[in-house]
Amino acid sequence: MRAMTEQNLIDAFGGESQAHMRYLRFSEIASQEKLPNISRLFMAIARAETIHAHSHYNNLAHLNGGRTANSGATFGPGNTLKNLELALMGETFEVEEMYPVYIEVAKFQKEMGASKSFERAFATEKKHKALFEKAITALEKGNDMKLDTVQVCSVCGYTLEDHIAPDACPVCGAKKENYIDFK
Ligand code: FE2
Ligand code: FE2
Ligand code: FE2
Repeated sequence: MRAMTEQNLIDAFGGESQAHMRYLRFSEIASQEKLPNISRLFMAIARAETIHAHSHYNNLAHLNGGRTANSGATFGPGNTLKNLELALMGETFEVEEMYPVYIEVAKFQKEMGASKSFERAFATEKKHKALFEKAITALEKGNDMKLDTVQVCSVCGYTLEDHIAPDACPVCGAKKENYIDFK
């Protein structure tokens, strides 16, 4: 594998792994603040980030040993409003900078497995960004967000918020039964 794409996969694995842990903590804090829907949103999105991390990791099966992941992360947990803003910052970076660049590099280097893994995450992070924005809008008015069942594709992490999973995942094509419900 070409070195730059390989390092981008390692770094993206680091970023997704940290996002997973951060969102689990944010979910606990939201629950303590009696914000069950925002807590559930963090829980669902944490699962999606695990799926992204695993996908990037699986693309590195040719490696055989330790490497260093250089992954930015948002630190400074606070109350749920602050945590949502940290989460939004992370998702925005992934959507506006990280994944578009990683996808272009992977395509340029003809690393199609990596490019697919990055594209699936990119499609999902756009959804995450919108869901966190919705949560912030509600919480700024002092309310928990309105949230239907959140569905996460167990193959690609794509995240939907409605009652009906599509017959085929719009991102990876997996069947409906591959969606995990958070309700
Ligand atoms: Fe992700
Ligand atoms: Fe995300
Ligand atoms: Fe999917």
